[in-house]
Amino acid sequence: MSVTPVEKRRTPADLRARKGGVPIVSLTAYTTPQARLLDPHTDLLLVGDSLGMVVYGLSSTLPVTLEMMIAHGAAVVRGASRACVIVDMPFGSYQESPAQAFANAARILAETGCAGVKLEGGVVMADTIRFLSGRGIPVLGHVGLQPQSVNALGGFHAQGRTEAEAARLIADGKAAAEAGAFAIVVEGTAEPVARRLTESVPVPTIGIGASPACDGQILVTEDILGTFDVFRPRFVKRYAELGGAISAAVSAYAEDVRARRFPGPEHVYGAAAPEKRKTPTAR
Ligand code: KIV
Repeated sequence: MSVTPVEKRRTPADLRARKGGVPIVSLTAYTTPQARLLDPHTDLLLVGDSLGMVVYGLSSTLPVTLEMMIAHGAAVVRGASRACVIVDMPFGSYQESPAQAFANAARILAETGCAGVKLEGGVVMADTIRFLSGRGIPVLGHVGLQPQSVNALGGFHAQGRTEAEAARLIADGKAAAEAGAFAIVVEGTAEPVARRLTESVPVPTIGIGASPACDGQILVTEDILGTFDVFRPRFVKRYAELGGAISAAVSAYAEDVRARRFPGPEHVYGAAAPEKRKTPTAR
């Protein structure tokens, strides 16, 4: 009897070893069915706090709570068997002190089964990254545009366009790497700066709006599938227009219900038409 080999789940150490190699493929995931679909094709699934905007309709990521991240993190871990799952630390759950960050990151790991956490910030967060990674919690850094600092930044703008910004961004990336981050998300960053940063750190950079110079790419899944249209940043490439397909399907359903074409005899218990298939439970 032949047994299909089960592919080993990628770890933060595996991803770290990908520096300069085959680009790391990452996407965001928020639910079990979504994770099941993405898992065979990706190296890293990020349960991003972007879920506040994409799933909950909030206008920023700031109101996202630890409980929301834990619930969605556990759901994604249940749906993924080969991708490394990393969960975002929400705003206010790590900035106060390394001890606060450790307590909350430990909860995220214990209650979701994920492999590590992501937090925003470079130089300012270096002590926290060192504290977590030195105590067994793999950390994915995040520099460049940091959505949790939207109020301080005055909006979502590409970073690294002036020499001062570029120097700050590179210092942030280097600080995160030196503190022990296994990889660094680089968001909304001008190409020359993303390239300089990628060349200056020994760990992979994973870009979102940060050019092909990075060691990997990440995007919000709903952006590439066309199901989140609140805004469409220039760096997003649409691979499908599922928003239109969903709207057409729901409109056809609505017309069928109004015209009494649905449910048909094949969807009715005890109707004359034979049942098409047996299901283990009556759904
Ligand atoms: O919250 C998120 O989804 C992110 C990615 C877009 C990098 O931080």
